[in-house]
Amino acid sequence: MNLVVFGPPGAGKGTQARMLAEARGLVQLSTGDMLRAAVAAETEIGKQVKEAMETGQLVSDDIVIGLISDRVDEPDCANGFILDGFPRTVAQAEALDALLKGKDKALDAVIEIKVDDELLVGRITGRFTCAKCGEGYHEIFRRPEQDGVCDKCGSTEFTRREDDSEETVRSRLKVYHSQTVPLIDYYSGTSRMRTVDGSQDIADVRRQIEEALNGL
Ligand code: AP5
Ligand code: MG
Ligand code: ZN
Repeated sequence: MNLVVFGPPGAGKGTQARMLAEARGLVQLSTGDMLRAAVAAETEIGKQVKEAMETGQLVSDDIVIGLISDRVDEPDCANGFILDGFPRTVAQAEALDALLKGKDKALDAVIEIKVDDELLVGRITGRFTCAKCGEGYHEIFRRPEQDGVCDKCGSTEFTRREDDSEETVRSRLKVYHSQTVPLIDYYSGTSRMRTVDGSQDIADVRRQIEEALNGL
């Protein structure tokens, strides 16, 4: 099964994609994570995208399309993948359809996680992530069971994203509304689009997604 999960910054794309990937044996492909890894490793792509990422702008379509096109060819994607944060422009969505067709693959579902802007700034400014395994947490909504210790791997080191300041989140939201919202129209014309209410708690959003997928 190949899925797209999309929604605004802080909607819970990463949180839900990670759980879904684990439960269904799929691979989570987050373009944001891939680009952050490229920036950290100071690769050629990392140098090209650093500034756009820090300011909350989108990086060029060509770069992310290239990353995804190569990644879905890897053997671990054969059982299916969850695209988290890609596509986020109509040009990316068109390129995705074309590249999957060329590889004899298809998209089974597109899950939109819908959340109003007011909730999102608090979600993002409270976020922190395990430095070792990448598990995501939140100061209020998803605290580790034991303070300062990752539930998944026991690490005591956590990181925060450079683009998670309130100011940058507001730019990311503007970019979402102008460049990514048109995807709703793009996918609404197809039978694979499902919208879930992302303002509910994490377990409830998960239930809605499972129901949507089981009903396909
Ligand atoms: P990306 O990394 O994709 O960031 P984003 O889209 O802004 O989304 P986030 O990762 O911030 O949010 P999320 O929806 O994953 O929420 P999460 O689950 O963490 O992209 C970063 C940058 O990379 C972009 O700005 C751009 O520069 C570039 N980029 C990436 N892809 C690109 C592309 N395709 N094209 C061009 N440029 C691209 O949850 C957030 C917090 O809330 C967490 O703390 C979590 O614990 C908590 N939480 C989650 N769900 C709930 C809930 N239901 N209730 C309460 N709390 C919750
Ligand atoms: Mg994310
Ligand atoms: Zn961990």
